[in-house]
Amino acid sequence: MAHKVLLTGGAGFIGSHTYVALKNAGYDAIIVDNFSNARRDVTDRLEIITGAPVECIEGDVLDGVLLDRIFAEHTIDAVIHYAALKAVGESMGKPLDYLNTNIAGLYSLLDAMQRADVFTLVFSSSATVYGQPDHLPVDEAAPRGFNNPYGYTKLVCEQSLEQISAADDRWAFGVLRYFNPVGAHETGLIGEDPNDIPNNLVPYIAKVATGEQDQLSVWGDDYDTPDGTGIRDYIHVTDLARGHVQSLDALLKSRQGHVVNLGTGTGYSVLEVVKAYERAAGRALPYRIAPRRPGDVACVYGDTKLARELLGFEAELGLDDMCASSWNWVSRRKNT
Ligand code: UD1
Repeated sequence: MAHKVLLTGGAGFIGSHTYVALKNAGYDAIIVDNFSNARRDVTDRLEIITGAPVECIEGDVLDGVLLDRIFAEHTIDAVIHYAALKAVGESMGKPLDYLNTNIAGLYSLLDAMQRADVFTLVFSSSATVYGQPDHLPVDEAAPRGFNNPYGYTKLVCEQSLEQISAADDRWAFGVLRYFNPVGAHETGLIGEDPNDIPNNLVPYIAKVATGEQDQLSVWGDDYDTPDGTGIRDYIHVTDLARGHVQSLDALLKSRQGHVVNLGTGTGYSVLEVVKAYERAAGRALPYRIAPRRPGDVACVYGDTKLARELLGFEAELGLDDMCASSWNWVSRRKNT
């Protein structure tokens, strides 16, 4: 029988792409999502992509009664936990929401898993735990810290999982430190769909390309980088989704936990991303140089060696694929 995986936040950007990757890899999957940052038609779209009905339960990971019911009604072998808040700026205005959803949400889930005797979890962490690294590419042994409530929640969650796995060897955790996930599924049916004006670079550029925003503000061109703009390690969401499947494969096979970066190992500047998106959209995209965004670091890209060694994971898609798939998604979305 196929292993069945519960995806918390599985209707969101990364969760929905992982749903497809899991089904393609022969897993069975069920989604629980409170739809705070996901559209309801995602499940219909997942049915079109996978050609099979999608099991999706509306609800919140803070609701232990609901989680107990899900574990009682389904034979679940493992959980991938995405359900969390992720906007740095918002976290400074609503720190308690972030602590509750991200930290208490993880504890609520772990409690329910323990009650149900399910001890395998893949956790969405972030390269935000590195801050501005001392050396690049940044590897998993680099010191961790935080600059805002969002980053704090990711660090506390990572440390909590470390405490639990050190004390109780029934648990196996895969902690995945995402770099900058962008792009969309090749069908153009699912992708990133922020409810508000996007804060992140590629979703914002996408809105300029569709005409919903007039121009991009490039936050600073005086960093110590070749063109002066910030450099990040953008990874195609399809590659990232596959990384979750490989993490799960490894946990189920070996019961050995891991903490790995998921990136490409290559950094691109803001202006390089703009140029790539212009190639994808086939037109010039207006931008202006604006002051630096507080809290931004100049340059981050990840060391990919450990993910390759432990999971056999390697990103396959490049920046042009990321921009082309994003453009395919947003230009279709605008017309539906
Ligand atoms: C941000 C978060 C990070 C989080 C990630 C989620 C901060 C400081 N970090 O990463 O913790 O995990 O989102 O995806 O917010 N840029 C512009 N104009 C824009 C938007 C962005 O020039 O309108 C630049 C930024 O200055 C940066 C790069 O684009 O150099 C990437 O920014 P963004 O997409 O927001 O990601 P991060 O800041 O790397």
